[in-house]
Amino acid sequence: MATSKRVQTLLLLAFFVCVFAHRFPALGAHPLLGAEKLTKVHFFLHDTLSGSKPSAVLVAHRENHTGFPNDPTPFGTAFVIDDPLTAGPELDSGVVGNAQGLYVSSRQGPLSLVLGVDFELTAGPYSGSSFVVFSRNPVTEPHRELAVVGGRGAFRLARGFAQLHTHYLNTTNGDAVIEYDVTLLHY
Ligand SMILES: *[C@@H]1O[C@H](CO)[C@@H](O)[C@H](O)[C@H]1NC(C)=O
Ligand SMILES: *[C@@H]1O[C@H](CO)[C@@H](O)[C@H](O)[C@H]1NC(C)=O
Repeated sequence: MATSKRVQTLLLLAFFVCVFAHRFPALGAHPLLGAEKLTKVHFFLHDTLSGSKPSAVLVAHRENHTGFPNDPTPFGTAFVIDDPLTAGPELDSGVVGNAQGLYVSSRQGPLSLVLGVDFELTAGPYSGSSFVVFSRNPVTEPHRELAVVGGRGAFRLARGFAQLHTHYLNTTNGDAVIEYDVTLLHY
């Protein structure tokens, strides 16, 4: 479904307001870095394994990997990603950042990943800054929480958590759209 220019503008506006609205100081202060801030960021991540220009590519797998398409991410596979982040669930709803890094399929049962990913924002007041997730992601659960372990730029020394909700998942080819609600403490 295409997103109209008008809806796209509204979604981008909502993203900026969301980022601004939750900026407030007074949580704590560091003698050199100043007041600690709490910032919330909301976006959708598009992880595309299928097609001629995937944003997630298989770079390693275990011995005797049975391959696609029935089990796109079996235990022991590793993917490198450069996933777009958008304001709304549709890919054309306005890009607000990108997620670069890798994930490995790390559970010998229902699908679960470990992510090591740098999320850089390219729109809004924190454009050029990023936060880093290194955490377990049990993707079959509808809601999960991932640890934010650091950041760059305005998010220097960030810590926090990301709450994930699967908006769309094709279990045949692995394509997914994931909603992220991120809470960051930073200086
Ligand atoms: C992989 O397949 C080969 C050939 O069928 C077999 O000899 C080997 O034991 C298999 N390895 C594993 C880890 O299953
Ligand atoms: C899921 O992926 C399969 C394989 O690429 C494709 O045939 C199917 O149409 C996809 N389903 C949806 C709902 O897009």
